[in-house]
Amino acid sequence: MDRKKVTIAELQDKKQKKQKITMVTAYDYPTARILDQAEIDTVLVGDSGGMVALGYESTVPVSMEEMLFMAKAAARGVKSAFVIADMPYMSYQVNDEKAVENAARFIKEAGCDAVKLEGGSEFASTVRAMVRAGIPVCAHIGLTPQTATMLSGFKVQGKDVEGAKKLLQSAKDLEEAGAFMIVFECIPDSLAARITEELKIPTIGIGAGKDCDGQVLVYHDLVGLFERFTPRFVKQYINLIPMIREAIIRYKTEVEAGEFPGPEHTFKMNKDAAKF
Ligand code: KIV
Repeated sequence: MDRKKVTIAELQDKKQKKQKITMVTAYDYPTARILDQAEIDTVLVGDSGGMVALGYESTVPVSMEEMLFMAKAAARGVKSAFVIADMPYMSYQVNDEKAVENAARFIKEAGCDAVKLEGGSEFASTVRAMVRAGIPVCAHIGLTPQTATMLSGFKVQGKDVEGAKKLLQSAKDLEEAGAFMIVFECIPDSLAARITEELKIPTIGIGAGKDCDGQVLVYHDLVGLFERFTPRFVKQYINLIPMIREAIIRYKTEVEAGEFPGPEHTFKMNKDAAKF
């Protein structure tokens, strides 16, 4: 039976029923189709695509146009999962007006269901402005890669009392501003559990322990398509790179040996035109 479109109400209901929410990233049509067929709840067109699909060193250089290109392709591959697109660096930080304009492009032009933005309490007004415009917003706190330099690098956040209090306050402020869901990246498991308990909206963890309402992984990490580095919170379920490389080497060898294409891959002219 065809799965119905996943809704915000359903995601929030899963929290109430203590059913875990699944999220995986996708940046193109075929990957999004696979995730949708596997009945993943939410597909995230993350700005991580800038690194794993476009080859940038970090997520900072990713542009609105690049995000829109990936979001359109991924959204075309999805029938029922809930599609969330990442607001890239500097697409929402300048002012709320610009932020709403950019967020709306993911909904109007790319066909996404919601946007995600990195940042704490200081972005509550931005979330409020987007929600007022009818754009659902998923927040993202903890390690926020777009501004990792401000956090002195890619470090676990909220390990001390002051940091933990700040994250708890941010989560509450973002919920109050109207965010429908929140991602925690790289925070201690006990802190993620505590904030999850205090919030009404679902929490999605990446490096935040098992007590979040759901989990997210970057697709390329999950299937072994990214070789540059693997953070501790990643579990690789399959290692595709050696398998794909092996297939490409077999193809190359067969072409060079004149073994591919075989008769089954070849077309013949009509018999009466054979002397052409
Ligand atoms: O860009 C991304 O893929 C993300 C996830 C790691 C949450 O923001």
